[in-house]
Amino acid sequence: MIGIFDSGVGGLTVVKEIKKAMPKAPIVYFGDTARLPYGNKSQETIRKYSSEIVDFLKSKNCQTIIIACNSASALAADFLREKYPELNIYDVVSSGAQAVTEATKTRRIGVIGTAATINSGVYKKKIAEIDPKIEVHVQACPLFVPLVEENWIRRPETKKIARAYLRGLKLKKVDTLLLGCTHYPLLEKVISEVMGKRTKVIASGEKLAEFLKKTHLETKFPSNDEYFVSDLTPHFEKLAGKILGKDIKIRKVML
Ligand code: DGL
Repeated sequence: MIGIFDSGVGGLTVVKEIKKAMPKAPIVYFGDTARLPYGNKSQETIRKYSSEIVDFLKSKNCQTIIIACNSASALAADFLREKYPELNIYDVVSSGAQAVTEATKTRRIGVIGTAATINSGVYKKKIAEIDPKIEVHVQACPLFVPLVEENWIRRPETKKIARAYLRGLKLKKVDTLLLGCTHYPLLEKVISEVMGKRTKVIASGEKLAEFLKKTHLETKFPSNDEYFVSDLTPHFEKLAGKILGKDIKIRKVML
């Protein structure tokens, strides 16, 4: 089983990519909706929450874990790998850094994410490890996660906020913009419109699905996927169904 987790609905954008690449991959999803957002929390708290989730996913027989949250990837991935050496742990920051370095032509890129991800400096570090000549411009966009969770995806207010956040990156003339938060692909249209045609927008989870496909054997049988959250509301169910393009059964579990 492949365990996938995020603070809320954002990780479902990664599930979508994985299911596109491997439709029968058996997954268990956990969205920590009761404790969202992670993006403004401390490293200590994010590590504690992530570790509780991994314990839960382990209890569901997951041997592979995908941290489908950039904030948890930035602040807890190394910690989790050390704590659980028996598990294969993938994170969206490593795959995002790989994707953006492959996509840029001018070596001028932008990365947007939560305050936790951007302030951790993890993207600048990982990208420099791959290609030190790449210029990385970053911007935290803390209002994007609540806008997505509220499903304010096509609202004029959202576009106004996107313009304000992205102004600096536009001036830097980045040719590629990495969405360093798994909630942001839901705002991709607005973000692309604001950045303009010359900027390629890519999601941090895309490459991960590709990589997983290379390393995982897919089962022949349709999987019995399970979806869990720490707080369940009709709003979440509706949003999850919209993201995945189908209705799913979601169960509430207290960690
Ligand atoms: N989706 C998460 C990420 O990729 C963050 C959302 C949050 O702030 O909880 O960083």
